[in-house]
Amino acid sequence: MKRGKFITLEGVDGAGKSTHLAFIADWLRGQGREVVVTREPGGTPLGETLRELLLHQPMDPDTELLLMFAARQQHLAERILPALARGAWVVSDRFTDASYAYQCGGRGIAVERVAALEAWVQRGFSPDLTLLFDVPPEVAEARRAAVRAADRFEREADSFFARVRNAYLDRARAEPSRIRVLDARQSIAALQDEIRSLLQSLA
Ligand code: TYD
Repeated sequence: MKRGKFITLEGVDGAGKSTHLAFIADWLRGQGREVVVTREPGGTPLGETLRELLLHQPMDPDTELLLMFAARQQHLAERILPALARGAWVVSDRFTDASYAYQCGGRGIAVERVAALEAWVQRGFSPDLTLLFDVPPEVAEARRAAVRAADRFEREADSFFARVRNAYLDRARAEPSRIRVLDARQSIAALQDEIRSLLQSLA
């Protein structure tokens, strides 16, 4: 059985990535693939319990980072790696690039700490394709303002999201073949065209 591909979606809160998750899953299923749609933090019963804490319980930034990776370890062991091994394609709403963007860029944790946890938990494993939905801060801000019950991250200041965005873009510059930056101000149809051709090139 050929190993499946691992695709991740990233972007600041309000970039609109969730809208595209269903499109990607449907398109891949239309190609006859088994698709597992998942998210981080979360994706397993333990991970979803950790997500509740991460999104709502005040905590130290290093605790936040360690819990993100605890959830990720469980996600990989219980869900992502077994699915890929049986040939399924896995599409995750966020993965480790979010830890670099939010915990390093946003919270100011040293990149070396995340790199050490990444090496421990992933042992060289990384997504085959990452779609980075990029929007200018004011667009994301307007979209976030429409969210009623904001979580711990969504309540952060605009300057936090500016740092998160810059950290994402830095990562995309460092790994341009894996991380593809999409201008999320485009129409949904234009974005879907771009996404479809990226998926085709992966098959
Ligand atoms: P998000 O993916 O935006 O879900 P929703 O669309 O339901 O709000 O919420 C997850 C939050 O977790 C988001 O604000 C970013 C944050 N996060 C991190 O800070 N670090 C990480 O490693 C991950 C995976 C997420």
